[in-house]
Amino acid sequence: FPLVSLNTFGIDARAQYYVRVESLADLRAALADPALAALPRLLLGGGSNIVLTGDYAGLVLHMATRGIAATAGDAGTTYVRAAAGESWHGLVEWTLARGLGGLENLALIPGTVGAAPIQNIGAYGVEMRDYFHSLRVFDCASGATFEMDAGACRFGYRDSIFKHADGQGLVIVDVTFALPAQWRANLRYAELAQALAEQGGAAPTPRQVADTVIAIRRRKLPDPAVVGNAGSFFKNPVVSRAQCQALLQTYPTLVHHAQPDGSEKLAAGWLIDQCGWKGKSLGPAGVYPKQALVLVNNGGASGADISRLAQAIQQDVQARYGVLLAPEPVFV
Ligand code: EPU
Repeated sequence: FPLVSLNTFGIDARAQYYVRVESLADLRAALADPALAALPRLLLGGGSNIVLTGDYAGLVLHMATRGIAATAGDAGTTYVRAAAGESWHGLVEWTLARGLGGLENLALIPGTVGAAPIQNIGAYGVEMRDYFHSLRVFDCASGATFEMDAGACRFGYRDSIFKHADGQGLVIVDVTFALPAQWRANLRYAELAQALAEQGGAAPTPRQVADTVIAIRRRKLPDPAVVGNAGSFFKNPVVSRAQCQALLQTYPTLVHHAQPDGSEKLAAGWLIDQCGWKGKSLGPAGVYPKQALVLVNNGGASGADISRLAQAIQQDVQARYGVLLAPEPVFV
C-alpha cells in the first residue's frame, strides 16, 4: 500500500498491510484478524512527524475516527472531546467558531488530534498539555479501553509516555481538552506579542491571536502540501546554565531561554543557521531557506537522504558547539 500521500515528507515508501480505522470496532477487528495480529504495527495519524526510512514490513493502522463534542463543566470550564483522527487545526477552528479560547496559539500545526499528545505539540508559548484534560486509550495487549490524565501521560517538552517503551501498544482513541471560562491571550512569545501590538488591538480575541499565529507560520514554515517536511526537525537542546554561560563567552549572540529548573534551552535553528546550513542541500534533502530547523524534501528524497542530511548537521553542530541535536520526528 503506498504511503507517499500519508506522510508530509512525501517519502515514497509502501506498507505491507494497511487498515483505515474509522471506529474502535475497526481497530478491534484488525487486531483480531489472525493474518494481521502478529505483525509489527505502525499507528499513523497525519503522518506529519515521521521519517519513513524504507518500506514498512507490517501493519499500518491509519487513525481516521471523527467527532468533536463539547460539554459544560464546573466554573464555566468547557470540555471538548475530539476523536483521534480529527485534524488538529480543524479542532482549533471548531473551538474558535464557538468562541472558545485556549488553543489559538496552536493554530495551523499539521497532524491529528490523536498525535498531539504523543509529542505534546507546542508553539508560540503554549503546549498542548496546558489545556489537556485527559485522553482515552485502547490497550492492544488487553483489549481494554481506559482513561489517562496528564500525570499518567508524563508530558515533557515534545515528549510523553507514548514516545517510550511503557506507552507502546496504547492507541489514543480520543482526547479531552479543558478550556477556561476566563480566557486571556497568551502573549509570552515575543514575536507574537509584537505582531499583535502592531495591529493595534489592545485586547485581542482568540480569533485574532489565531490569525496572527497563522500569518507568522505561513511566513516562516513551508506548507507540507507544497514542500515535503515534518516541521522542526530537531528539538531545541536543553543544556546546563554553566554550559550556556561557557558558550556565551565564545558566541555572545547565542539564542537561549532560561527554563524554570535553571537549565537553558538553546535555539537549534540558530545553531544550524550559524553553521551555514540554512538553504543548503545534500542531494534531494535540504534545509529550508527561511527556517534552518526545518528539513525539506526538494523532490524524490528518501528517508536515507533525510537521515544523511540530519547527521551532517548534527556533526557540524556537535563539533562547533559541543551540543548534540536530537531529532524531533520518529524514524520508522
Ligand atoms: N533562528 C535563527 N535561524 C533560523 C531559525 C531560527 O537564527 O534559521 C533563531 C530565531 O531568530 C529565534 C530562534 O532561533 O531567535 C527561535 O526561532 P523560532 O522562533 O522560529 O522558533 P524555533 O525554536 O525555531 C520552536 C518550535 C516550533 C514552534 C516555534 C514557535 C521546537 C523544536 N520548535 O521553533 O515548533 O512553531 O518554536 O513557538 O521547539 C515543530 O515542533 O515542528 C515546530 C514548528
